[in-house]
Amino acid sequence: MSSLTSGNAKQYGDSQKLAARARLNREYTIAEIGWFPWVAGQLPLKAGSRVLDVGCGPGWFWASVANRMPEKVDLALCDLSPGMVREAVDRCQSLPFGSVRGHEAEATALPFEDGSFDAVIAMHMLYHLADPAKGIAEMFRVLRSDGFLAVTTNGGGNMRRMYELTTVFGSPPCDPAAAVFGYDAADRLMRSQFGNVAMSQHPASLRITEPEDVFLALTSYPPGEDADEAQLARFRKAIADAFQQGNGVLEVEKESGLFISRKMA
Ligand SMILES: C[S@@+](CC[C@H](N)C(=O)[O-])C[C@H]1O[C@@H](n2cnc3c(N)ncnc32)[C@H](O)[C@@H]1O
Repeated sequence: MSSLTSGNAKQYGDSQKLAARARLNREYTIAEIGWFPWVAGQLPLKAGSRVLDVGCGPGWFWASVANRMPEKVDLALCDLSPGMVREAVDRCQSLPFGSVRGHEAEATALPFEDGSFDAVIAMHMLYHLADPAKGIAEMFRVLRSDGFLAVTTNGGGNMRRMYELTTVFGSPPCDPAAAVFGYDAADRLMRSQFGNVAMSQHPASLRITEPEDVFLALTSYPPGEDADEAQLARFRKAIADAFQQGNGVLEVEKESGLFISRKMA
């Protein structure tokens, strides 16, 4: 099966495909506070915290919040994709962190001793694992007692108005990431591993004014990426109709949330 949640090597060799989707969020989000600063503001990090980011991607999160971090945070940037690790380290190493190290590693087999970190962060990545519970157990293992795990993912209603357009490819009308590891799964699996979890949702929506950006985002991963000419023509027509209905604008509700669990002493 190939989809947003599998086929990692092709999808995440570098940040190009991810950027097509990130562009929508960057250009069109309506929110009092952006996603990355909103997440950063809720992480209970302290000066000198040892932090592991699993599935760090190109390090965009840390680059955008470096100036809001407590002093001397030691950052371990971990991803399955060597290209992502390289890009993340290049981007972050001159920023005001205590230290920055890159690790090419699989989330379910982290190359660290038990209790090595004060905080583990896994943003929008657990839906890529065949067994997210195994990934969460591994994150629990490398946390010290009283450390915390912060996970982000999407809810089932995330960008529904946009995903409805992908039914022309035979996809269901919903966020594929949320279908695999959405709010319910995050709550259940983190509660079962840690015995506690607190969730908050980023208040945000999208007001998209450029149809081509919807086309590029939804054809950056399969099945849209592999669609034939006839399907792509039907897809362009569906996008055009949706924008026409909204008088040139596509209004899309977002559901992205942060889940934090603490490893009790
Ligand atoms: C959607 S991106 C999220 C990037 C970043 N965390 C963010 O929120 O901006 C998912 C990342 O998870 C990585 N990934 C996927 N499966 C993984 C696995 N099994 N172990 C480690 N990293 C993985 C991908 O290579 C990709 O960089």
